[in-house]
Order: sequence, then structure tokens, then C-alpha cells
Amino acid sequence: MSSSTLPASTPISPPIRRIGVLTGGGDCPGLNAVIRAVTTDAIFNGIHVTGFLDGFLGLIHDRSRPLTLDDVRSIITEGGTILGTSNKANPRRFITGKDAAGNPVIVDKTADCVETYRRHRLDALVVIGGDGTMSSAATLLPLGVNVVGVPKTIDNDIEGTELTFGFLTAVSIAAEALDRVRTTAASHERAMVVEVMGRNAGWIALHAGLASGVDVILVPEIGFDLPSIAADLRRRVAAGQSSFVICVAEGAAPAGGKQIVARTDVASFDPIRLGGVGKFVADEIERLTGIESRHVVLGHTQRGGTPAAADRVLATELGWQAMSLLKEGRFGRMVAIQRGRMADVPIDSVANKQRRIPADHPLLAVARSVYVTFGEPQQG
Ligand code: F6P
Repeated sequence: MSSSTLPASTPISPPIRRIGVLTGGGDCPGLNAVIRAVTTDAIFNGIHVTGFLDGFLGLIHDRSRPLTLDDVRSIITEGGTILGTSNKANPRRFITGKDAAGNPVIVDKTADCVETYRRHRLDALVVIGGDGTMSSAATLLPLGVNVVGVPKTIDNDIEGTELTFGFLTAVSIAAEALDRVRTTAASHERAMVVEVMGRNAGWIALHAGLASGVDVILVPEIGFDLPSIAADLRRRVAAGQSSFVICVAEGAAPAGGKQIVARTDVASFDPIRLGGVGKFVADEIERLTGIESRHVVLGHTQRGGTPAAADRVLATELGWQAMSLLKEGRFGRMVAIQRGRMADVPIDSVANKQRRIPADHPLLAVARSVYVTFGEPQQG
């Protein structure tokens, strides 16, 4: 269908003629679907779209490209982001290098972002990102940058929205990996420990573990106790089970203990990179039970590749919702999903917050009902 035969969507208020769009933070399946939705809706409404490259770096250094229908026509199935992204570009705390003592030199680049916005004569900016990106966007709002936010993360941990695109793709990838290790665990009568992402939230581990029917799920929200896990596995052995699958969120830690940090990245909005708990748990299970154990770290495989169909739909809906807010002049909002419906919240309300699994979340009870254990210390 040619663009001239396609119907225009909601009528727009006259002031919106030129918008920018950027993707910030870690990449996530579905980013391109949002870019496509925003760009297509904008162009059909006569709005020019500028894509800024590599997240806020594009605004700081004025690096961009115009986006056309041709650019976005077939990107809905592509993982990653055609605009590039960066998790090291916080405009307020931008690291330009190191001083003589090796300490980072931090400069406020907010004014550069505002200057770029003005130079392009933009009327609004769509920022697609996580809590760090939303908090950077919030700082631009009082300076005259009309931002609208679209939340993204595989972790599903953004405050104010019950679902982020990318999450369902990550869960599918993790569930498939768990399914795959089950057969090799069975062949060798081993315990297979699979470490999944999620930062300080256990949503990916909980959903993927439940989907794959694993024995033990360890999440950051529930401190685990290794002797209790060992006792649980021994009970399963006594009941005739000879192989085990354990899904561990990267942020899981022993009760009262610390998370395992793989590296720190001072330039990043959230400098902590978790990783290593999978190996720790596998080694300890083997030591405590004698069950031969192996671990697998799924890492960035969970963020790569084509988005699941449900994420493409969600990303498209959220892109449309962002354009609706923008056309209504409702700036400073982040689109969201609440009680299964599209909603929006103040963009600054999500900064420095993470949505974690509440202790009374129904899925925890559901998981326990199918004999999943969470490694809690045993009572008494
Ligand atoms: O927030 C998304 C996420 O993939 C987390 O699950 C993970 O802890 C982190 O990003 C990894 O970040 P990086 O890509 O910088 O290693």
C-alpha cells in the first residue's frame, strides 16, 4: 500500500510539526517496533521525524538522521535498535575522560541537549528507555524539551507499568534454554543451574522458571539458604528424582548476604553489573549434596534477536500511545500498562525506583503449588 492510500490516525493539534526520537539504555527486543510505530504515525500526520543516534549521545553531540517510511517499513521483526543506544550517556553526569588521578571527569551536558533540540526546531521528543533514560528525560522537561517516554526493559522492573516490551521475548528465550538443559540434566543425572538476567528483580526467573517447570527458582526478592536448597534436592532424590533444573536470577543472593557483582561501570546510570551467582549456586549444590552440577549463564542472548509477537504488538501500542499523548500536548508523561490497559504516569515518577516481585504476588503461590521451591531458609 502506498503511503497516500493509508488513512491518517487521530487528528493532531497544529503545533507539532517536528519530533525527535531516541532509544537509551540497554537494548531490548521491540525497540524498533516502537520506532516504527512513532515514525509511521508521525509521518501520516505530516510530522517530520529525526532519529537521534546512540541514545542521549545523539542529543549531546547532535548526531541524528531523518526517519522516513522506508527506514521503518520492515523493522518490526528486527531486534536491537536502528538508532543505536548507549547506557553511558546521562546528560547531567556525562563522563568526558579521566583526570590526572584517574578519576572520571563529570560534566553537565544538559544544555547541549536543549541546544540540539532547539537547533532541530523540534516540538517534542519521544524517549524510549529504562528508568535511567526516563530520569534523564525528566531533567530536560523544565528546560522546554517536550518529552514523552516509552518504557523498555527485558527486566520488567519499571515503576508505574506492569509490563514492558522485551520482557516476554526474554522469558521465551530463557524458558527455551531451561527446556534444553533439562534433557541433558536427565541424561547425566545432574543439576543444571541457569542464570538469567533481571537486575534486582526476579520477574524473568519467575516467569521462565514457571514456564519450563523447573524445580527451584531463586530471585532477588527472596534471600536463599543453601542448606535449605540442598535439603529440598535430597527430598526430591528420596522421591525418585535424579536430575534437577534450577533457575537463578542474576540478582539473587543468600539471605542476609550480598549480590555477586561481575563488574562496575561508573559511566552508566546504574553502575552495577550483576553476574556469577549461577556458578556459585551450582558449586555449592555439588559440595553440599554430591549431585554433579553445571551452570549456564544466558546473559545477552535474552536481549538479542527478533522480538516475540506479543512484544511487537505491545511496542506498537505503546508507540501509538506516546504519539497520542504528544498530539494532545500531554508532555512529561511516560506511557504505561496498568490493569492490562494503556495508561500514562509522570515521567519523573519512575526515576530511581524498581518494580520488584511483591511477597504476596499470586505467581509465587502458583509456583509453590506446582512444587517449585524458592530456597528460603527452613522454619524451625
Ligand atoms: O536492564 C537490562 C539488563 O539486561 C539487565 O538484565 C542486566 O543486568 C543489564 O542490563 C546488563 O547490562 P549491560 O548490557 O551493560 O551488560
